[in-house]
Amino acid sequence: MKLLIIGASGVLGSRLYDDTIKKKWDAMGTFFSHERKGFFCVDMADKSGVHKIFDSFRPDTVALCGGITDVDLCEERPRLAEEVNIKGTANIAEKAREYEARLVLVSTDYIFNGDSGPYSEEDKPSPINVYGRTKLEAENIAREKMKEYLIVRTAQLYGRDYRGKNFALKIIKNMQTNKEVYAADDFYSTPTYAESLSQSVIELIEKDCQGIFNVAGTDFLDRYSYVNKIADIFRLKKTLVNKVLLKDLDLKAARPPKAGLNVSKAEKILDASFMTVEKGLNLFKSELDNASYEM
Ligand SMILES: NC(=O)c1ccc[n+]([C@@H]2O[C@H](COP(=O)([O-])OP(=O)(O)OC[C@H]3O[C@@H](n4cnc5c(N)ncnc54)[C@H](OP(=O)(O)O)[C@@H]3O)[C@@H](O)[C@H]2O)c1
Repeated sequence: MKLLIIGASGVLGSRLYDDTIKKKWDAMGTFFSHERKGFFCVDMADKSGVHKIFDSFRPDTVALCGGITDVDLCEERPRLAEEVNIKGTANIAEKAREYEARLVLVSTDYIFNGDSGPYSEEDKPSPINVYGRTKLEAENIAREKMKEYLIVRTAQLYGRDYRGKNFALKIIKNMQTNKEVYAADDFYSTPTYAESLSQSVIELIEKDCQGIFNVAGTDFLDRYSYVNKIADIFRLKKTLVNKVLLKDLDLKAARPPKAGLNVSKAEKILDASFMTVEKGLNLFKSELDNASYEM
């Protein structure tokens, strides 16, 4: 397998890179602003940069894990979000088609309005923020431009992050330094351990699956309960966790209140384990305890 990973400095992309290298795949990663040794700097919004990486590496599979994932930044800078998440996806899909490479697009539960999650693959998307809209348009591009596409929708990722940007890591770091944290009990999703998502993506590629697959954790829970689980497993002081409502957080972008994904379709096909939050967070803790680097 000759796999190009766009966004290999991110939470999922870095894990996918390490996991596929372990399997002796010929993998190549890209970063944008957080340099990683041995990876190429690619701005997916820049057509010529995208052409260069395809023409030099000539992948047979492309995992698109990159883009602007900061939901509030997308709301503040919609043009930038469109340039990267929509135009960038089009740039990559065009080159993937030229090379007859399979495109694996990673998408999100934020394409839904959050009235009635967790959502199945057949539910009708209706995004309520710029991020969700750009991701849905990226999905449409993959469907329209590619003969073969795999869209993997996921939700609320947690896991190792070299850049320290991940929500769970920020919560852990803040609580370890005795800072109070705020978590909404009217905001639901299905938190997903990046390691288990990476294994599922690999299996979907190996099994040559096509179409849309939800891959997420098996627990549908609100942020307040999630942060309390983090506190339990990382042995942090629960008195630092404040229960709030989504509206109290005064976020720039609206959040889908009951999002999350139903994973029964992927569970039937894949051997990879779909985890409860408790299991995933325990594995994440062991990973952090054994890490040889600061996160
Ligand atoms: N995080 C979540 O909770 C979540 C939930 C549902 C779905 N998803 C989806 O899952 C995928 C992976 O998410 P993640 O959390 O692993 O992402 P992430 O950690 O935020 O990483 C994003 C990656 O995209 C790269 N990137 C940013 N701007 C770019 C540009 N202009 N051109 C090329 N690459 C660019 C980043 O590079 P630098 O860091 O080097 O700038 C980084 O490697 C994304 O498609 C996201 O939409 C994420």
